Amino acid sequence: MSTHTKSSRKTILDIKKMKELGEKITVLTAYDYAISSILDECGIDMILVGDSLGMVVLGYDTTLPVTMEDMLHHTKAVSRAAQNSLVIADMPFLSYQVSPQSALANAGRFLQEAGAQAVKLEGGRDTAETVRKITSAGIPVMAHIGLTPQSIHQIGGFKVQGKKEDAALRIIEDAKILEDAGAFSIVLELVPEKLAEEITKSINIPTIGIGGGIHCDGQVLVINDMLGLYDKFTPKHVKKYANLNPEIKKAIKSYITEVKNCSFPDAEHSFK
Ligand code: KIV
Repeated sequence: MSTHTKSSRKTILDIKKMKELGEKITVLTAYDYAISSILDECGIDMILVGDSLGMVVLGYDTTLPVTMEDMLHHTKAVSRAAQNSLVIADMPFLSYQVSPQSALANAGRFLQEAGAQAVKLEGGRDTAETVRKITSAGIPVMAHIGLTPQSIHQIGGFKVQGKKEDAALRIIEDAKILEDAGAFSIVLELVPEKLAEEITKSINIPTIGIGGGIHCDGQVLVINDMLGLYDKFTPKHVKKYANLNPEIKKAIKSYITEVKNCSFPDAEHSFK
């Protein structure tokens, strides 16, 4: 039997190499088969099944109510579509904080049952033992520091982190500790551009910014935000590459009008 697998899928080695080569890394979130197919066809490097699922798909105010079962369900759909992009599953609140052992068991489910190639978890030095445990079992881990939404009640709101010197130093140390623990990359969320630059220069694994400025090795955005699906509020770090909310509303209103006035379905869309 051949030991070669024919796959064009990005691996964590490709992602690390991109930092060495100075090639920017692209990441977007996806929560279902349709969007995952589009991202994969467009050549996105990594797809994150973020626990932002809770807010943008499931309608919660925070990510805290998201469960392992929610994340597994959506990761399975995303994985079925992604042929080339590396799929990362976000570990939900309390799936990795209780003990390194239970964290490993939960992380394993994302690879074994849901087809992901890596997991992401939030937190600095306090999660280092868990990151070591999971990576030692052969499961790649993306770390996540700066603003960590699962700690929103402790942080006291969605605000920029590491503005004061002592806080900034602590975040730089956290990044080094997480690299040492085996993380293959680190998300830097809502940190000043200069701090993100310093972290990016002081570690060998890629930094992926969201509200972290231009010097990160890569960027991630929540797909619903960058497509303009939500029309109430746009955070400063989000660039809307499309404005789909009014487009969708326009289409739906046309449909309503045409059904009401009997112009749909017409002959073209009916069977003889
Ligand atoms: O849940 C998520 O989508 C994330 C990204 C914002 C990094 O963690």
